[in-house]
Amino acid sequence: MKIQSSSPKKPLAVKSNTSRDLVERGKLEYEWATSLMKVIIKISKKYQRSKPLSNFNLGFCLHITKETSVLIMAAKALGAQISICSANPLSIQAEIIEFLRYNEINVFAKKDPNRKEFFENIIKVSNTNPHVVIDDGAELHSIIHQRKIKGVYGGTEETTSGIFRILSLQSTTGLDYPIIGVNNAKSKSFFDNRYGTGQSTVYGVLRTLGILIAGKRFVVCGYGWVGRGVSSCLRGLGAMVTITEVDPIKALEAHMDGFNVQRLEAILPKGDCFITCTGQKDVISRYDFDIIKNGAFLANAGHFDVEIDVAYLYSQDNHPNQLRPNVESFNIKGKKINLIAKGRVINLVGGEGNSPEVMDLSFSNQLLSILFILKNYKKLGREFHQVPKKIDDQVAHLALSSFGIKIDKLTRDQVDYQTKAYLNY
Ligand code: NAI
Repeated sequence: MKIQSSSPKKPLAVKSNTSRDLVERGKLEYEWATSLMKVIIKISKKYQRSKPLSNFNLGFCLHITKETSVLIMAAKALGAQISICSANPLSIQAEIIEFLRYNEINVFAKKDPNRKEFFENIIKVSNTNPHVVIDDGAELHSIIHQRKIKGVYGGTEETTSGIFRILSLQSTTGLDYPIIGVNNAKSKSFFDNRYGTGQSTVYGVLRTLGILIAGKRFVVCGYGWVGRGVSSCLRGLGAMVTITEVDPIKALEAHMDGFNVQRLEAILPKGDCFITCTGQKDVISRYDFDIIKNGAFLANAGHFDVEIDVAYLYSQDNHPNQLRPNVESFNIKGKKINLIAKGRVINLVGGEGNSPEVMDLSFSNQLLSILFILKNYKKLGREFHQVPKKIDDQVAHLALSSFGIKIDKLTRDQVDYQTKAYLNY
């Protein structure tokens, strides 16, 4: 079942042939993603009659991709008024902007905005007085808090780095409304961050560089959900993979998973390509460029462009050689250092972002969390909340059923055995 969208067969009320082409392309992309996002479509179908989002304004700050258009159209089908801006200046897909505009969504975004335009668009969404704020990276939440915008019932946060910011906001000034950490749902991070970002990061590197992965030394910084996914995809393609970590448990896990684990300093002179996946700043710092291998490639999969000291590279060579689209080569003290996608999320800038099947899980959690907030916001404290287990399990069950997989249930006897375990000896 497809969500209704305006048919491209009727004449399009758009300004120019270029816009019309973009709408057509956007619609195809939307339909392609819809065909693979069965869980959110099922949820949307369940609520389409009752329209529980009628009379509510939703403010979104997400990557503007085909998968996001499925979430937006699903929320619209449930009656919501929607405004959206982009969570990243380089991940914006022009055809999706035009497709959403054609479907009467308030889109505050343009392809390749400058820094000022990017932030102005986030402010414009904050000015629409959203009842629920759906964010990826907590940029919109931060602006709403700074500008003391009232009337927000609650919000959600899509990514690990955004949750760090929410928790820091909570412990300093406090939160003005409850925020659900969608990222932390198991049915989100186990799959989106690991399998989704793992694959799409490697695809982003491949599409940008077109190099052979097999036989190259890749260094993956961080062995959290994203790092695990990236390293296992690279290994599958024949790369030699080294992991750097700061957490002893994760480092031990990487070792037992069969990866080479080293200090960054030791592997800098040997790595062909470095991919940061940590959510931390200066993971590859200015001092590391002194010993890094000549000709190394640097890419980042973390949410913010702070993991590689990009500012230092530009300060040392402000006219880098453009080797290919999205690949700049810096001449630093006679050495070539190649930066991919300006150190921004490689999977979204160099590739297409995560695949529809994993975004289906993430955005189903988003949609159910929005409904949960609107039903329960009076009872929820103005603090950070995890996604309720019921929602997490519901998404996993729906996903299994969309793949045609059935699983077993505990018998009553087995439940008793567990709950009365202390008697069973
Ligand atoms: P995580 O918390 O599971 O893993 C991060 C890992 O990095 C941890 O194991 C931590 O110990 C390690 N780490 C921190 N500082 C380090 C350092 N200096 N050197 C080496 N290791 C270090 O986080 P997750 O979920 O893997 O996310 C990582 C980043 O990716 C975040 O910024 C998150 O927002 C982002 N993300 C990006 C996505 C994308 O589409 N590009 C999708 C999902 C998450």
